[in-house]
Amino acid sequence: MKLLFIGDVVGSPGRKMVEQYLPKLKAKHKPNIIIINGENAAGGKGITNKIYRNFLDQGVHAVTLGNHTWDNRDIFEFIDEAKSLVRPANFPEGTPGKGIIYVQTDQLEVAIINLQGRTFLPAIDCPFKKADELIAEASERTPIIFVDFHAEATSEKQAMGWYLDGRVSAVIGTHTHVQTADARILPKGTAYMTDVGMTGPYDGILGVDREAVLRKFLTSLPIRFEVTEGRSQLNAVLIEIDQKSGKAKTIERIIINDDYPYFE
Ligand SMILES: [Fe+2]
Repeated sequence: MKLLFIGDVVGSPGRKMVEQYLPKLKAKHKPNIIIINGENAAGGKGITNKIYRNFLDQGVHAVTLGNHTWDNRDIFEFIDEAKSLVRPANFPEGTPGKGIIYVQTDQLEVAIINLQGRTFLPAIDCPFKKADELIAEASERTPIIFVDFHAEATSEKQAMGWYLDGRVSAVIGTHTHVQTADARILPKGTAYMTDVGMTGPYDGILGVDREAVLRKFLTSLPIRFEVTEGRSQLNAVLIEIDQKSGKAKTIERIIINDDYPYFE
């Protein structure tokens, strides 16, 4: 089975790229399951019910989140009913929403886990221990387990990849918004990539208006960040998984921008 994971969709430029290219990617690769990280989908911070529904209407099976989960207040109105939305599982006990979901595809059921790192991010529960707990639960139901590890530090992401090698189908990093060139299959069959990258503005700084970011670096004054306009990009990853064993067979980076244009 094929799994398509689209990296952090940032604001309306990111949503427009999904609308433009998801139909093409579907036609070309025929993924059985499509997952999107949507934690920056509403103006760069958080997600709304309307945006979440719109992703599902386009054939997306699951939307993962991260440290911006709560940044749009709309989330509190719909997270408990949103069956296809996953927030980091290692948020404190009692937090609204779910950290693992199961999606029934045209083939097998897929478990989708979202975890958040703790290096250079708020101190939350241990993502490694939480992963152990959730994988034990998921393995009872399906061999196909996907992990979106939303984290800042490359070392923490690599550590999670090696920690889960052979126990999940894929560990793919999100959050840093720049696609890394290290997509690989680890020795025990887990597809790994430090960061899938971002879908949204191509000429900003991580999707944000670069003048504002520069002003921040030059002055250290508090500055409001906005999603920038102009050219856009889409970053994703395509993973082929053996559905009997749950092991990954191939992993392929997808990058669409003016320097690497899309070819049919
Ligand atoms: Fe993030």
